[in-house]
Amino acid sequence: MSNAEIGVIGMAVMGSNLALNIAEKGFKVAIWNRNDKVMEEVLRHAGPLAKNLVPCKTYDELVAAIRPPRPIIMMIKAGSPVDDVIHHLTPLLQKDDIMIDGGNANFHDTMRRFEALKDSGLTYIGMGVSGGEEGARHGPSIMVGGKESSWHRVEKVLTAISAKYKGEPCAAYMGPNGAGHFVKTIHNGIEYGDMQMISEVYGLMRDGLGLKAAEIAKVFGDWDKGRLNSYLVEITHKVLSVVDAKAKKPLVDVIVDKAGQKGTGKWAAIEAQNLAVNASAIEAAVDARIMSSMKDERLKAEKAYKIPRKKLSVKSRATFLKQLEGALYAGKIAAYAQGFAVLEAASAQYEWNIPLGTAAAIWRNGCIIRSQFLGEITKAFAKSKGGNLLMTPFFINSMKKDHTSLRAIVALAAQVGAPVPALSNALSYFDGYRQGRGTANLIQAQRDFFGAHGFERIGEEGAFHGPWSNSNG
Ligand code: 6PG
Repeated sequence: MSNAEIGVIGMAVMGSNLALNIAEKGFKVAIWNRNDKVMEEVLRHAGPLAKNLVPCKTYDELVAAIRPPRPIIMMIKAGSPVDDVIHHLTPLLQKDDIMIDGGNANFHDTMRRFEALKDSGLTYIGMGVSGGEEGARHGPSIMVGGKESSWHRVEKVLTAISAKYKGEPCAAYMGPNGAGHFVKTIHNGIEYGDMQMISEVYGLMRDGLGLKAAEIAKVFGDWDKGRLNSYLVEITHKVLSVVDAKAKKPLVDVIVDKAGQKGTGKWAAIEAQNLAVNASAIEAAVDARIMSSMKDERLKAEKAYKIPRKKLSVKSRATFLKQLEGALYAGKIAAYAQGFAVLEAASAQYEWNIPLGTAAAIWRNGCIIRSQFLGEITKAFAKSKGGNLLMTPFFINSMKKDHTSLRAIVALAAQVGAPVPALSNALSYFDGYRQGRGTANLIQAQRDFFGAHGFERIGEEGAFHGPWSNSNG
């Protein structure tokens, strides 16, 4: 009976798709769901793949069906449901069995769970899975955190079901305990940044140039053929091309401008702050979603201010669009530099030893941020083994050229009052980063003035104070 290679708990879309993906790659997979009807549906839809599915009615059955040491993937709602399943499974499992959380868990929870199981002989994997429903079914990007021995037990299945980039699996070991879920959190932070910057350039074309959705779709379609080639640019082209049957207008024009969020982008911003890493473009993207949700207040403020929306005055549309492409590319470089800097800092803080180049490599396909651009990042990290992306030769060259486009676009947007929070934060990050002498000397003087916090003097050792008592009167 114990012949299944792996188990999957939770047969909602992500879980059932992952199970079907495993079955399709020739592995027997034991499956369990709280609701029998859902299980029946999955089996009915599985067709010939059903022969590799082992439906189980109880946790006992599930455990008995899997070859030890047993890997069991939980594809369930993040949070307390995961603790609940761990609580019920733990007494049924044996030494070296592995519970795997494949949801979007907060890595702090993953660390806590990992720690709690440490003395039980059981092990735990926090597994970031990206690619949405399609990815789960046909090849996601998989980021694994846990003991290396646990990874080796599941490596064969996970690499088989993952997306491939030129034959290389987009699944890899990211480091101990919370590393996998942390890498996924940063993936999502970057995803927020990418989506926000895309929506900002869309806004400039829609409101600044007055282009129609179909015209903007064409621009994204063209960009997708070049260095911006990516899943998100591709779907933007597709989304903008859809006409709503009911309104007989582009669908995007009848969608309310309020974006939801489940929390991973926010976690990325919070962790960046906790680690004292500047991730301003990613944070701006999270803030932009918050601003988007304040629809009623925004409508009132629009009426209160009555500042007319200005059109962009551009001499040549072609030149402007080229600049816009450069701005998006440069903005991306800065946002990814931030994301990878957060990864590097967390890796040092938690002693994860995250292979940054591998993280970039497994994002080249399967995940939401997959792109040609990640191919360049993979190459850059293969040479540099870490450090800020903005200091790698390829991106130094790119930024030397493209910062002018980003600058021009941010300046134009400011002139017409179009908000471009992610792009402008990306530019400020770049400008701050490449500036040998900034303005924090004044802040140090102020801190010393009101709080005697001390300051360093140029070229001298030690802490100094200013003669502020003379200026207090
Ligand atoms: C992925 C996505 C996915 C995420 C959704 C929604 O990598 O497949 O990141 O994990 O949950 O995209 O995220 P928000 O609701 O926070 O936008």
